[in-house]
Amino acid sequence: MIIGVPKEIKNHEYRVGMTPASVRELIGHGHSVFVEHNAGMGIGFTDEDYQAVGASVLATAAEVFAKADMIVKVKEPQAVERAMLRDGQILFTYLHLAPDPEQTADLIKSKAVCIAYETVTDNKGGLPLLAPMSEVAGRMSIQAGARALEKSCAGRGMLLGGVPGVAPAKVVVIGGGMVGANAAQMAVGLGADVTVLDRNVDVLRRINAQFNGAVKAIYSTAEALEQEVLAADLVIGGVLVPGAAAPKLVTRDHIKRMKPGSAIVDVAIDQGGCVETSKPTTHADPTYIVDDVVHYCVANMPGAVPRTSTFALNNATLPFIIRLANKGYKQALQDDKHLLAGLNVYRGLVTNESVAEALNLAYVAPEVALNA
Ligand SMILES: NC(=O)c1ccc[n+]([C@@H]2O[C@H](COP(=O)([O-])OP(=O)(O)OC[C@H]3O[C@@H](n4cnc5c(N)ncnc54)[C@H](O)[C@@H]3O)[C@@H](O)[C@H]2O)c1
Repeated sequence: MIIGVPKEIKNHEYRVGMTPASVRELIGHGHSVFVEHNAGMGIGFTDEDYQAVGASVLATAAEVFAKADMIVKVKEPQAVERAMLRDGQILFTYLHLAPDPEQTADLIKSKAVCIAYETVTDNKGGLPLLAPMSEVAGRMSIQAGARALEKSCAGRGMLLGGVPGVAPAKVVVIGGGMVGANAAQMAVGLGADVTVLDRNVDVLRRINAQFNGAVKAIYSTAEALEQEVLAADLVIGGVLVPGAAAPKLVTRDHIKRMKPGSAIVDVAIDQGGCVETSKPTTHADPTYIVDDVVHYCVANMPGAVPRTSTFALNNATLPFIIRLANKGYKQALQDDKHLLAGLNVYRGLVTNESVAEALNLAYVAPEVALNA
């Protein structure tokens, strides 16, 4: 199969669909890879790096789209990219179609086979191609929180780990899933006093076992949450109720009563945030203050570390890319119900129920569409 890797064109997006190491794997399986000029430049992969593993470099995205049987990207295709898709071509990338009627209409029109990273599933009930970005954001949240606690950011002027003779900062992580567990790991590593709150007892058990009791794992009642948040120096918001907006667990009243100079990193901001006073911010201007509490609410945290994020994403996507390339989309989708769950638009038909429902479009089950 011919695989195409265009340069990402969304504003400030430096990640790339495939690393040179991933390209080498595909070529090892007998496929051809065409990479757009400077596709990986933003994170230190040169055209020569791609050529060294056997890829061909093409000058423009148009040439990559024209040649490829499968396009591998990171972000949803922008309008100019959508116009280059064609009947039967595979598009494998993040799509996030439910809130995006324009993109969905263009993908339907293109008749391409559009597989969305974010809806591919695994046999543990997880979303394996979304998880790496939660790992990155969870780990980054402690870096961001540590910075927010510095005096120059209007924080309390505390070091997370303290020093011998000085108590560490108290970090309260709401939600012990992928974001929360990774945040807890970084905070413990820095020597902070860490508590994780969750409503799922199995999650609390896992946290307890993972940290051998070094992290307090507390059931998240309204009372426990209030107690912990009011005592915290740093709060990390990492809750998720799948398919729903994040519940506003930290209220405006809590914010008023929190310690002056304490900080909140609301990672769940991409689902509306779990703090009543949260509003999305950007890497260029990541924090603002409400009632003396520093708020960090960047909606695309992994974008700050595109090199790490690209490797993390590729580790997760590569096995699927190889299967799609080796078997062709039809066989690969028929053989794997988890990959099939990623099929959002198939040759003009909407094959993801939530997307169809959100946009009031006709839904065709993916297995029906594939055999149509
Ligand atoms: N800002 C960013 O750049 C960025 C990046 C990655 C992920 N995220 C977001 O971070 C959030 C968390 O993602 P995740 O992958 O860790 O999800 P996850 O499903 O792995 O974990 C979420 C946890 O929240 C818990 N939870 C739900 N309701 C709760 C409540 N009322 N009190 C306490 N805990 C509760 C769940 O039991 C679960 O353990 C999501 O909204 C995700 O979209 C944001």
